[in-house]
Amino acid sequence: MASGETRKIAVVTGGNRGLGKDMALSLAQAGMDVLLTFNTNRDEGEAVAEEIRGLGGQAAALRFDLADIGAIAGFTDTVRAVLRDSFDGAERIDFLINNAGVGRAIPIDQLTEADFDIFAGVHFKGVVFLTQKMLRMMNDGGGVVFVTAAADRYNVPGYGLYAACKGAVEVFARYVAKEYGPRGIRSNTLAPGGVATDFAGAAIRNNPALQAMVIAQTAMGRLAEPHDIGGLVRLLCSDDARWLTGQRLEATGGYNI
Ligand SMILES: NC(=O)c1ccc[n+]([C@@H]2O[C@H](COP(=O)([O-])OP(=O)(O)OC[C@H]3O[C@@H](n4cnc5c(N)ncnc54)[C@H](OP(=O)(O)O)[C@@H]3O)[C@@H](O)[C@H]2O)c1
Repeated sequence: MASGETRKIAVVTGGNRGLGKDMALSLAQAGMDVLLTFNTNRDEGEAVAEEIRGLGGQAAALRFDLADIGAIAGFTDTVRAVLRDSFDGAERIDFLINNAGVGRAIPIDQLTEADFDIFAGVHFKGVVFLTQKMLRMMNDGGGVVFVTAAADRYNVPGYGLYAACKGAVEVFARYVAKEYGPRGIRSNTLAPGGVATDFAGAAIRNNPALQAMVIAQTAMGRLAEPHDIGGLVRLLCSDDARWLTGQRLEATGGYNI
């Protein structure tokens, strides 16, 4: 970042671990301040915020549950207060990274209404209303990155509901691009393939046979690392990506192409 340039502020949901942690650190390494959220793992969130401060950035970790729609307005007020108190009196953010999520394989025949409410709440309804609130406090020229899943292109048995919610988000992301483009705000979708995080009960990390299958079908011939995804988020939030909006980028190293 050039000296004298105003530091940008990114909000990263689920920034305490997995892909979100790398996104938060990657953005901080690019000179951004980061407000990250966790849902249950406060200590991890605080540790990532501390690591960002160690890199010279400003950071805070806030609890936020995407499934609790009623809490979004209060969360927004907390973001405003934390920006004012811990981010040099800032009043607005620049980027929102909608990353947090849950995963579990559930065959369609076994889906319950409770499953639907959890997945639709965390992966769609919560994302829509958090984005609405954050856009109201976003600087012109900012951006939103929606982390979806490559599994909404290729189909993985058991992930139908999850992938359908991610697909809905991808449509919403294009509408954000259309409605907020006049303010210079861009909106893109990043759709990772499998990464060996805690996601879905560490389904990939704990399953060597699945890893071998993924590697065999991946053009780049290896499993993804979180930094393969975090680096792309940093790119999408950089000025180099200023002319990219309304797009879905699939980040799989060439899976099933
Ligand atoms: N890993 C993959 O293979 C893969 C592939 C494609 C897409 N994705 C997508 O990438 C994103 C991140 O996945 P990941 O692999 O990093 O998963 P992860 O390691 O399981 O981490 C999930 C993150 O989401 C947060 N979270 C969970 N439930 C939440 C809720 N109700 N409200 C707010 N935050 C919540 C968690 O916070 P706590 O730790 O505090 O609970 C954690 O920070 C997800 O949207 C996922 O769908 C992942």
